[in-house]
Amino acid sequence: MNNEYRMNTSFIYRIFYVSLISFFLFSCKTQKPADPLAKGVSQKIDSIMSLMTLDEKIGQMTLFTTDWGSTGPTIREGYQDDIRQGRCGALFNSHTTAFTRQLQEIAVKESRLHIPLIFGYDVIHGYKTIFPMPLAESCSWDLAAIENSASVAADEASAAGLHWTYAPMVDISREPRWGRVMEGAGEDTYLGSLIARARVRGFQGENFDHADKIIACIKHYAGYGAPIAGKDYNTVDMSERVFRDTYLPPYKAGVEAGAMSVMTSFNEYDGIPATANKFLLQTVLRNELGFKGFVVTDYTGINEMVNHGYARDLSHAGELAVNAGVDMDMQGAVFEQYLKNSVEGARVTEKTIDASVRRILEAKFALGLFKDPYRYCNAEREKTVIFSAANLEAARDMARKSIVLLKNEKSTLPLPKKMHSIALVGPLADAKSQMLGAWSGAGDGESCISVKEALTERAAKNGFKLNYVKGCEIEGDVTKGFTNAVMAARNSDVVIAVVGESKEMSGEASARSDLSLPGVQEQMIKELVATGTPVIVVLMNGRPLTIPWIAEHARAILEAWWLGTEAGPAIGDVLFGDYNPSAKLTMTFPRSMGQIPIYYNYKNTGRPYDPNSKWTSKYLDGPNAPLYPFGYGMSYSTFKYDSMQIARTEFSMKDSLLISVKVTNTSEKEGEEIVQLYVRDLVGSVTRPVKELKGFEKIKLPSGQQKIVNFKLTAKDLAFYTADMKFEAEPGKFWIMIGPDSEHLQKREVNLIK
Ligand code: NOJ
Repeated sequence: MNNEYRMNTSFIYRIFYVSLISFFLFSCKTQKPADPLAKGVSQKIDSIMSLMTLDEKIGQMTLFTTDWGSTGPTIREGYQDDIRQGRCGALFNSHTTAFTRQLQEIAVKESRLHIPLIFGYDVIHGYKTIFPMPLAESCSWDLAAIENSASVAADEASAAGLHWTYAPMVDISREPRWGRVMEGAGEDTYLGSLIARARVRGFQGENFDHADKIIACIKHYAGYGAPIAGKDYNTVDMSERVFRDTYLPPYKAGVEAGAMSVMTSFNEYDGIPATANKFLLQTVLRNELGFKGFVVTDYTGINEMVNHGYARDLSHAGELAVNAGVDMDMQGAVFEQYLKNSVEGARVTEKTIDASVRRILEAKFALGLFKDPYRYCNAEREKTVIFSAANLEAARDMARKSIVLLKNEKSTLPLPKKMHSIALVGPLADAKSQMLGAWSGAGDGESCISVKEALTERAAKNGFKLNYVKGCEIEGDVTKGFTNAVMAARNSDVVIAVVGESKEMSGEASARSDLSLPGVQEQMIKELVATGTPVIVVLMNGRPLTIPWIAEHARAILEAWWLGTEAGPAIGDVLFGDYNPSAKLTMTFPRSMGQIPIYYNYKNTGRPYDPNSKWTSKYLDGPNAPLYPFGYGMSYSTFKYDSMQIARTEFSMKDSLLISVKVTNTSEKEGEEIVQLYVRDLVGSVTRPVKELKGFEKIKLPSGQQKIVNFKLTAKDLAFYTADMKFEAEPGKFWIMIGPDSEHLQKREVNLIK
């Protein structure tokens, strides 16, 4: 074939493709994105796919990071050329309208078929306006606020050219050594499922009509929250029953909420890496949950199957993944390098490839990118939406709602408005960039307000003196700052010590084997307490910590986690009583490392704990009880629970059981209370936990007022995977328990009959 002919044919093809794509772009009357399930869309996808070469199809199944940020061990050079050649259909770690437009132009103008790119990013708790880390938000138990947080994140991310977030992480975890607990919703399956749904809805909304929503990706499927010994990426070993009862439900909730993508996890499940696990990806995800979106791997998850000892080489790994149901290869370039050969060798069918490509193109259609590939590149929106006053206010409100008051002896908090002086001490008191926490998108520490900044403003307004001394670093053994810290404590009415972990100590690849306060921080607090000045400890951390000494000796403790951009003002609001804390822990705080894993819904065992008998399930050198249980958190108000009322004590599989409890605010202050309902199935065909959360309501009560909180339970709420793996309730006795946390519960027995 001579060159001139080649040029002519390629010119003719070009005109043909441009007309075809233009037909897609202009054939629709409105600018609304297409419903991927609509018939017309399916035909359009057929037409596009009929034009695609195998290489181009594999390109759609390939996702690369740009060099704007690295969230994994590898970076690939030359991604612009990959786009041009149709070798990659999606990018991540690229954002801003300017940059995404520039890359989208390469795809739309320079690639043979002009298929637009999808831009993904880890928008975990905000894009620029950073909200509290997800575990902190979960402590609010406020589903509407959590949904709104995801919605604001989507609004800002979409205004910066992004279409797709790698969130929410819906991994249940009972393992505080694991650094990634900060990204989840804690240890409970029921609450975790509701939060998964809220987050998916927040990110995706109803539709993509206004280009202000983004595709959610529930991750990391599955079991990633249970790594042995808490080490990230480690082996997971759980029974199918535990998987289905405890770890799967948040995925189900996310799929039911319409999540359009799922990310596979790095770990193995039942000896097979999740990235090639047909039971997870086909039996459960596609067949049982009916998931219709696309499946992406985690970062080089396919390649890692060689290290797992499951794939012989990369080519084999790619075949195992795609044949198990993976649609998109994140960063591994395995599909890009080997998949064509696998198809040619008949180890992978073109039908399998087509199914994956179709799902990915459906997502692009749903986003409206075939109508306008730049609809998420609106520089005007980018300027007005990001850091809008409303977003900052929402972040501050979410931050206040996420702070857990763990201790408040002698009603030390809230601080009186009229004070003489406050000593503000600790390495996190003025650490702006630390406020963001891990996985903070494009967040910038400079935009955060530290506790020192917030209190300096209050000091000027309220007329108290703020004596700030850092005292020590987060890590290391240098104590020379203690002298000034102690002096400040002696000269002040009260000490506020802001201590904790650095943000780098949590998140991915950040497991810790010691969960006490790092460095010499606890030593410093001991010296501060010794001055006799009341010490209020404000904790900033990504996971439960072991802090028994502080729990005993500090006057008050606020668990502030990492609260994001508005951390300082939110903490100030709680310290001074402008906001009455209402959050409750969603992960148990252990007393010691030896208690881990520790969680509220354990099994009774054959020899349950009895302090008076050696031969029971317990430790010789410490209690079984945690430092702070699941569901625990104080308020500046106090609440009284009357005896619960149950209409009848026997109910059938078709009935519902109505339970109510009167709660009274017995304090002078208006406050919020999270009323919790737990059940215990006393005898089952398989053993059941000693309690399981089955309902809650967050109520606001003015001083002295009361409210009747109603719950309704049906047999469906009591279902579990029975001995023969059927999901159903079994007749028999149940305890119904109500209270302010998982330990302080009143109980009544009821009988479920056939
Ligand atoms: C690896 C992490 O496990 C995952 O959560 C994240 O979304 C990807 N890297 C992309 O950054």
